Amino acid sequence: MLHTVDHPLIAEELTRLRNPECPSPEFRQRVRRIASLMVTAVTADMGTTIVPCNTPLEITSGVKISRGIILVPVLRAGLGFLDGFLDLIPQASVAHIGLARNEKTLVPEPYYLKHPPALGESEIIILDPMLATGGSAIEAVRSLREVGARSIRFACLVAAPEGVASLEDAYPDVSIYTASLDRCLNDHGYILPGLGDAGDRLFGTCG
Ligand code: PRP
Ligand code: URA
Repeated sequence: MLHTVDHPLIAEELTRLRNPECPSPEFRQRVRRIASLMVTAVTADMGTTIVPCNTPLEITSGVKISRGIILVPVLRAGLGFLDGFLDLIPQASVAHIGLARNEKTLVPEPYYLKHPPALGESEIIILDPMLATGGSAIEAVRSLREVGARSIRFACLVAAPEGVASLEDAYPDVSIYTASLDRCLNDHGYILPGLGDAGDRLFGTCG
């Protein structure tokens, strides 16, 4: 299911981010801020457990998130999304998955996977600013499922309808959260209007 996280603060950040004149340090800051602004929406339906809670005056009942949370940035661009999530969920563990989209075929090529144990007992949030054809997101879910992950969400900045449809088709149980559902893909697999190559803009590797 697709959730578009619609908020004026996010919309304004994204507008500034799309501007090609936005330099890398500012781009990184804005991506981090949007990530933080998305956290409550992405985690809103996580299960909680009632726990005893001491106050200075008495014992009452409190709440604890029932399962551990594992954040999974998709290298490279997902790293830009990580700190904004960690700022609000510092207790989360982090798994890393490396995927590089082949520029000609648009097929993602896996190159790295490192994850904590107990994936199956945790809430997994895959982080990648861009959901374009959906190939990378599908490969990320596939490889995490292969090593035991069950409950998986996918959070991005900008999604193309083509990628949303492919991911929903492949994994209907994975909830998708995006700050914007854009119009379509161009002939080179880039999102329109989009924001260009997120990894290059985050890390200053544009030509
Ligand atoms: C970008 C982006 C996604 C992928 C999306 O990464 O960060 O991972 O493309 O495209 P898709 O939905 O068509 O698969 P890229 O492979 O360019 O690597 P990078 O993050 O290292 O720049
Ligand atoms: N990857 C990006 O970084 N940007 C796009 O528009 C599509 C894939």
